[in-house]
Amino acid sequence: MDDTASNTERTAIRENFYAKIDSYNLAPLWERVHSSVTSGPNSPAKPAHWSYDDEVRPFLMQAGGLITAKEATRRVLILENPGLRGRASITQSLFAGLQLILPGEVAPAHRHTQSALRFIIEGKGAYTAVEGERAVMEPGDFVITPNWAWHDHGNETDQPMVWMDGLDTPIIRLLDANFTEMADADRHELNRPAGDSLARYGANMLPVDWQPISRNSPVFAYPYARSRETLTAMARNGDPDPCHGLKMRFISPASGDAPMPTIGAFMQLLPEAFTTGPYRSVVASSSRRV
Ligand SMILES: [Fe+2]
Repeated sequence: MDDTASNTERTAIRENFYAKIDSYNLAPLWERVHSSVTSGPNSPAKPAHWSYDDEVRPFLMQAGGLITAKEATRRVLILENPGLRGRASITQSLFAGLQLILPGEVAPAHRHTQSALRFIIEGKGAYTAVEGERAVMEPGDFVITPNWAWHDHGNETDQPMVWMDGLDTPIIRLLDANFTEMADADRHELNRPAGDSLARYGANMLPVDWQPISRNSPVFAYPYARSRETLTAMARNGDPDPCHGLKMRFISPASGDAPMPTIGAFMQLLPEAFTTGPYRSVVASSSRRV
């Protein structure tokens, strides 16, 4: 370009060039790199708070009267991040929602490429079955349904059951690999007694010669009673971390890594009257008070 061209002329020539290459599906990276590569974290997701008792629960119960679980397939209110409206996401990489299962309702057996976790919020006695093992759930329990694992759930109690679903849907969407398969029967065949995976893999021992077939945890239900007992003992036995209080990672006992490769999960106890110190990281998280 001529060195004597004015800034206005230079801009016009460049804009003209950009317009010309646009029809060939070409674009100048130098015009975009500043917004796509920043010197620090720059997420569109915003901090947000949903009040379960005052806001979410009443709407969820209203939804229970508006649509059956069968009609809705999944009767879930999405916790949609205010910075990501329309994208069914709570963070750039995670979906979160609250699912209501009324007495007598079942979700037929299915499997999908998304990995899902579940924190039980309300109700006691409904079940989830994963790969042939059933777990009866209660508040605070943590349950995983790893990618492509058959699962079904139902509520045979007389109380509503609510849990928080967390899925890696945005990651799977990014990979164009979002699909599901319904089983022939409503319930997948049970082939192990309840509690088998926890007994087999969750007691600081593993069956000799056992080898993992995936990076997903071989334990799929982590009962709240055990998590709580651990945190309570730790609170009794030592000082809390000044930033985290008492915070434990859920792990796969086979690897020490997160129970599923794409989603981490934690259980945190804040002692009474404890105030956390300031802390920041690039990890996006959602939390639920039990
Ligand atoms: Fe599912």
